Amino acid sequence: MNINLQDLSHDFIAPDGSTKNVLSHINFNEKVSTLAIIGPSGGGKSTLLRILAGLIKPTSGTYDCGTNKTGFVFQQNGLFKHWTGFENITIPLEKVHGYTKEQARESAENLLRRFGLLDDAQKLPAQLSGGQQQRIAIARAVAPNPELLFLDEPTSALDPEYTGEVLDMIKELHDNGLNFMVVTHHMGFARKACEKTAFLVDINNPEVKAGSSNLIEYGDSEQIFTDAKNPIVKQFFDKILEW
Ligand SMILES: Nc1ncnc2c1ncn2[C@@H]1O[C@H](COP(=O)(O)OP(=O)(O)OP(=O)(O)O)[C@@H](O)[C@H]1O
Ligand SMILES: [Mg+2]
Repeated sequence: MNINLQDLSHDFIAPDGSTKNVLSHINFNEKVSTLAIIGPSGGGKSTLLRILAGLIKPTSGTYDCGTNKTGFVFQQNGLFKHWTGFENITIPLEKVHGYTKEQARESAENLLRRFGLLDDAQKLPAQLSGGQQQRIAIARAVAPNPELLFLDEPTSALDPEYTGEVLDMIKELHDNGLNFMVVTHHMGFARKACEKTAFLVDINNPEVKAGSSNLIEYGDSEQIFTDAKNPIVKQFFDKILEW
């Protein structure tokens, strides 16, 4: 999947009318099948993912993800509360993607069976564990067969015992040909399951020169985790490893 970002920048407007620069002059043109976006809180990771998914419009610059067939998985509470897990998958397939009731049912059942979620999916989200909810949210996002899946910290609200289940599901989907881009704080997942890693720094970090890009490191995950070039990235890893 070719991801092409040209001079992409984004500012948020605060209630007092002042602007806050969050993404700055990002240029990126690479073939990517699995990409982890990592970096400190406030670095603009979620903002970048939302722009690429078409959920918000960038202040300036252009982007192209090579496909419009994308799906999105939110950090938590992404399911409609008054629908069962099953309905969360079938109703969008019918209403948004034009499936018949029967087609939607068959698609949802196949997917849920594959991931061992068929029985759980008869429940409402509140009756499911966080891990089950997230796996159903992922099943919903992949049901219409997107070519590229965006995930924003899909495991950060989960107990460690559920995190593995969700990460396994993402890995299995990739093994079956799905491209994905994930914002994650799970360094092990970024390193092992994502071929490439991009690091976004907080543009207000005093060590970042004014007007420079805040995508400060990109490359093979293994290389970044063992031998990052940028000292800010090295410091970030040192801090994480310290604890
Ligand atoms: N809708 C918004 N309006 C105003 N400011 C926002 C909005 N969304 C995000 N911001 C600000 O933009 C900056 C980047 O936010 P973003 O959520 O993209 O960071 P992040 O890298 O995903 O951080 P985290 O790791 O904490 O999720 C933050 O300072 C945040 O407060
Ligand atoms: Mg975020």
